[in-house]
Amino acid sequence: MRLEDKVTIVTGSTSGMGLVEAEVLAKEGAKVVVVGRNEKALKEVTETIIKNGGEAIGIRADITTAAGVQELFDKVMSTYGRVDVLVNNAGVFDKYTKLLDTSDELWDSIFTINLKSIYWLTKLVLPQMIERQSGAIVNIASVAGLVAGKGGASYTASKHAVIGLTKHMSSEYARFGIKINAICPGTIVTPLIADSVDNIPKDLVPTRCFGQPEEVADLCVFLASDEAKFMNGSIIPIDGGYTIQ
Ligand SMILES: NC(=O)c1ccc[n+]([C@@H]2O[C@H](COP(=O)([O-])OP(=O)(O)OC[C@H]3O[C@@H](n4cnc5c(N)ncnc54)[C@H](O)[C@@H]3O)[C@@H](O)[C@H]2O)c1
Repeated sequence: MRLEDKVTIVTGSTSGMGLVEAEVLAKEGAKVVVVGRNEKALKEVTETIIKNGGEAIGIRADITTAAGVQELFDKVMSTYGRVDVLVNNAGVFDKYTKLLDTSDELWDSIFTINLKSIYWLTKLVLPQMIERQSGAIVNIASVAGLVAGKGGASYTASKHAVIGLTKHMSSEYARFGIKINAICPGTIVTPLIADSVDNIPKDLVPTRCFGQPEEVADLCVFLASDEAKFMNGSIIPIDGGYTIQ
């Protein structure tokens, strides 16, 4: 297995891409920490992983506050004593809200979940990775972090910022044996875009189809594994070719 015994936190893993990432990482041997807000969903996801022969624990956490993120990290450390892989997956969409229609509340909530949670959690996880000279961090950004038109003002700005933060961190911490990369999914069929998926034209995508969460999860496994040891600071679109046009 490619991730044997690697303690792996996946934020926002009770639905959509995060859920599938948690399942696929566990199939590759990772000890997965499923993170979410809903106790029932946490129980269901962890039970499914365990039933399928994997290892997982569910931790209920509020990643919109520094204290909530600290509590999450402390619980993982007291259970496993280390974090080998961090997948910063949790995110919220702004439903294409343009700048002039964006409220301060919307801006702040999008930036807190999409960016600040990564800043908080990565700051906690990195020192013990540096100490062990080993670790992998995968940030789930978006094609909205590369081009305009795939989100509104706050989503687009927050995902560009995730890419900027990924570049900064990967340039500073790779020397300690930590690889940090970002995945930029195009349209992937998940609950996040369930409201709008029928209105997104497929003819803007060269493959003429949308992606599935499993495809992103497979890329995540690769970036978390030792096979990707020379991958660092890569910003990888998985978008059917949307951003090449
Ligand atoms: N679906 C797409 O087309 C698409 C495309 C590009 C990028 N993304 C990104 O992929 C990631 C996963 O999105 P998804 O499509 O699976 O959506 P989703 O809505 O199914 O999942 C988002 C996850 O984030 C969690 N989350 C949201 N707010 C939270 C909060 N306050 N505290 C804790 N967790 C919170 C949710 O509980 C959920 O588990 C996001 O970062 C999203 O921006 C999605």
